[in-house]
Amino acid sequence: MIVFTLNGKPQEIDADPQKPLLWVLRDDIGLVGTKFGCGEALCGACTVHVDGEPTRSCQTRIGDIAGKNVVTIEGVKGDVAQAVQKSWIKLDVPQCGYCQSGQVMAAIGLLSTNKKPSDSEIDDAMSGNLCRCCTYARIRAAVHEASRLLGA
Ligand code: FES
Ligand code: FES
Repeated sequence: MIVFTLNGKPQEIDADPQKPLLWVLRDDIGLVGTKFGCGEALCGACTVHVDGEPTRSCQTRIGDIAGKNVVTIEGVKGDVAQAVQKSWIKLDVPQCGYCQSGQVMAAIGLLSTNKKPSDSEIDDAMSGNLCRCCTYARIRAAVHEASRLLGA
């Protein structure tokens, strides 16, 4: 049995320790907001937070999650998360939406450590999150807007 914290609550899972966290979240637990894109840590669609760090859940084994704190798009909360959610809606960032859960998790990770990122800091932090609809300009603008909402 692997025990960890998921979105603020204790979670137990009886799974092969080698199984990717993404599969556990989506197939075993039913939290499908975290998306499968490449499965190879190349696209960022599967991004969750592990102990506060944006992490590729497709390449994270559930056995390595024991005792850790996992937050998915369904469980984000707090000032930074609210600012990102508001700015994403205000600037109408998503197109098809598929990549956006990962984008939001990456943006929250960035703004949690840097309340006023520059364009290049945003591009660096978000570079591992691909968007086939090319919403990059709106993502960058929305991160700046979230920064403004945070009073930075
Ligand atoms: S699905 Fe994990 S990085 Fe693409
Ligand atoms: S909004 Fe379609 S992949 Fe990013």
